[in-house]
Amino acid sequence: MAKGRLYGVGVGPGDPELLTLKALRLLRSCPVVAYQSAEDKTSIARSIVSEYLPGNQIEVLYHLPRALDPQAAQPIYDRVVTPIAEHLAAGRDVAVLCEGDPLFYGSFMYVFTRLSDQYETEIVPGVSCAMGCASALSVPLSYRDDIFTVLPATLPAEVLETQLSNTDAAAIVKLRRHFAKVRDVLQKLNMTSRAHYIERGTMATQKIIPLQQVDPEQVPYFAMILVPSQSKL
Ligand SMILES: C[S@@+](CC[C@H](N)C(=O)[O-])C[C@H]1O[C@@H](n2cnc3c(N)ncnc32)[C@H](O)[C@@H]1O
Repeated sequence: MAKGRLYGVGVGPGDPELLTLKALRLLRSCPVVAYQSAEDKTSIARSIVSEYLPGNQIEVLYHLPRALDPQAAQPIYDRVVTPIAEHLAAGRDVAVLCEGDPLFYGSFMYVFTRLSDQYETEIVPGVSCAMGCASALSVPLSYRDDIFTVLPATLPAEVLETQLSNTDAAAIVKLRRHFAKVRDVLQKLNMTSRAHYIERGTMATQKIIPLQQVDPEQVPYFAMILVPSQSKL
């Protein structure tokens, strides 16, 4: 029996209309749709596309435990992708949904690294958070030969400071409990007035809050800071 095809489908940053036509076709036609969520949460990726799902598909929810020691986590991740592998082995195509773009810090990569050498795989790119949030904020990010840097807020303050000092524009992701550290680094570098904070960009619940008014205790997972370039055309 022919094996199924694995699709990594980017569903964009939140607005259901920020979906490619290719993603829409696969969402409607694949017999199996898989998506991840944290243990105690529903899947954001699924909620973004829920109105497009025909309702007759097999759905696979998988949980990726976060903040694990990478070494210890491997057998857990191997186990997590097993249900997807079983559908592929049985000849069923599987569309794995991923918020934003699948290959840009995407949860799909846990599946990709484990299954793409065994099953034919195709990736459907999605609008990533940096692009979706820049549009939502209406801030031009970078011009001409500007350097644009993506920084996970989980990095130490010294690294963030060095990187921010050496770039023209930046996107700072994975803020959550690291928000206060990032805010202090931006302040030290006199970059606060250039920084834009946005929560759940492009989603119906989107919030744009001045950086100084953000409560560090209330920063959600889907929040980022954009520091646009100061270049002018
Ligand atoms: C693991 S990364 C996923 C990136 C995603 N694959 C993409 O292409 O945008 C998750 C981080 O991206 C940022 N993020 C993703 N979507 C967002 C949104 N709609 N609004 C604000 N930040 C977002 C947040 O900083 C979040 O912690």
